[in-house]
Amino acid sequence: MSDTIRWGIIGTGFIAHQFARGLAVLNDAKLVAVASRTKESADKFGEEFGVTGRHVGAEELAGNENVDVVYVATPNIMHKGNTLSCLNGGKAVLCEKPFCINASEAAEMVESAREKGLFLMEAMWTLCFPAMAKVREIINSGAIGEVRQVHSNFSFRCEWEPDGLLLNPELGGGSLLDVGVYNIALAQMVYQREPTRISGMAHLGETGVDEQSSVILGYDNGALAVLTSAIRTESKQEAAIYGTDGYIKIPHAFWKPERIIVKTSQDEERECKFECAGNGYNYEAAEVMRCLRNGCLESRILPLDTSVAIMRTMDTIREQWGLVYPMEKGG
Ligand SMILES: NC(=O)c1ccc[n+]([C@@H]2O[C@H](COP(=O)([O-])OP(=O)(O)OC[C@H]3O[C@@H](n4cnc5c(N)ncnc54)[C@H](OP(=O)(O)O)[C@@H]3O)[C@@H](O)[C@H]2O)c1
Repeated sequence: MSDTIRWGIIGTGFIAHQFARGLAVLNDAKLVAVASRTKESADKFGEEFGVTGRHVGAEELAGNENVDVVYVATPNIMHKGNTLSCLNGGKAVLCEKPFCINASEAAEMVESAREKGLFLMEAMWTLCFPAMAKVREIINSGAIGEVRQVHSNFSFRCEWEPDGLLLNPELGGGSLLDVGVYNIALAQMVYQREPTRISGMAHLGETGVDEQSSVILGYDNGALAVLTSAIRTESKQEAAIYGTDGYIKIPHAFWKPERIIVKTSQDEERECKFECAGNGYNYEAAEVMRCLRNGCLESRILPLDTSVAIMRTMDTIREQWGLVYPMEKGG
């Protein structure tokens, strides 16, 4: 691995722009290639970020010998195919959340990475913030006792665009896969295991996807996670972790955490603030590069089996609602 790690991006939309800006603050990272469905879009993105490798399609980018690692920033339904193309081209991959559509796709992606001995990680950027490292440290220290409840709400109101990524079932839309996944990833990070009981309710709107949902996950020791997600309802996006001896609150917006409020049995409630370098996407990129340099094929922050477990939990939730995506229907 050279001193500078060379990145490629597939997709030229909202998050591709954010990630490119995040990469720009890392001295040891360089964005060298982009892939789009069209040459025009690849050129436009290339001009904006000074990227010379401009490709049409994931396969073409996967064949670019100057690229070490690819960030997949396309709609949910493309994640599996784009990731497999990159792995087939010998590239390490950071794939946007949700990792893909369901656990069976996730298992295929993980199997391919492991078979080829290549790095793969889901881009659940929230877990890579310094504030989240502090949350893990506090929980592991036992300072709030045994965690008994996680509460988390990621709800916001998107525009009414039935054909867009958020509302269109053909593109893997819905609140659970778009933002509910942050709640589930947080619960999974805190409890370090899958729930044994799942109970949820959703409103499936006009387009057939969940516009909002609430889910309770139950764990073997009686612990709970109470989670809400929505894409047509505005709310504070807050999380809290309650233990037998204290709690940690992660104020709005918990998914890009810059401060936490901690109460332990030893101390009064106190606030911990974290200076945020860059726009936050740099933290997940830095974690990927740390892994690549150390020869790790997955990240300890979000191991691949955990990403598969998150997808499995979402499969069970959707099964209870009867939400099956068109591409999952046989025949
Ligand atoms: N981590 C985060 O904070 C965060 C935030 C937002 C979204 N995301 C995730 O990132 C992914 C992309 O979301 P986004 O908000 O960036 O979406 P977006 O603005 O619509 O961009 C998606 C890009 O994917 C490419 N694409 C390929 N096939 C497409 C299709 N059939 N329809 C539309 N676009 C297609 C397009 O680029 P070309 O035209 O160049 O091919 C498009 O610009 C999603 O999986 C989403 O869940 C993550």
